[in-house]
Amino acid sequence: PLKLGIMASGNGSNFDVVAQAIQDGQLNAQIQVLIYNNPSAKAAVRAANRGVEAVLLNHRNYKIREELDEKIVQTLQHYDVEWVILAGWMRLLTSVFIDAFPDKIINIHPSLLPSFKGIHAVEQALASGVKITGCTAHIACLEMDSGPILMQAAVPVLPDDTAETLHARIQIQEHRILPLAIALAASSSKSFF
Ligand code: GAR
Repeated sequence: PLKLGIMASGNGSNFDVVAQAIQDGQLNAQIQVLIYNNPSAKAAVRAANRGVEAVLLNHRNYKIREELDEKIVQTLQHYDVEWVILAGWMRLLTSVFIDAFPDKIINIHPSLLPSFKGIHAVEQALASGVKITGCTAHIACLEMDSGPILMQAAVPVLPDDTAETLHARIQIQEHRILPLAIALAASSSKSFF
């Protein structure tokens, strides 16, 4: 089984679908640890419900990003993690982290990259007037929301959409492609570089 470390800042629905895909036998993996940075992240509750160990690394306790990333790397190594899944991780990454897991960090993002990078992707898509947006699973590199694309899914923007309704429609697709993208990356990561 793939040894996964999952990182989440908030709700954790993507954490949950990965855990469910493993439970259902659709993804041959195990979740070694959940790392979360926000004390009130619902992801931590979801981890507890599934018997997954969760470690809080609160970014407010670290003066610089590199210090937090050092701690993240130590924690992931401690839990013997091979593949890191950024499942709604809302912090910028430094080379301290990226270089410790080369080509082994997968990010899920709520837009068709390279459009709408950053933490307000859904709002940006709405504001831009595009009629189709979606989600992207990709290998993370130092540049935010960049790196080789593993899978994408397209989602229509409907006339009455708010950020909430559009995000909900995008998340249905995130939940479908994230477990598939993990399996794809693990089976053929070399071909992406
Ligand atoms: C997801 O939609 C993910 O794509 C997005 O945060 C959400 C987390 O949802 N990530 C980003 O915007 C990263 N820039 P979840 O906590 O329910 O999995």
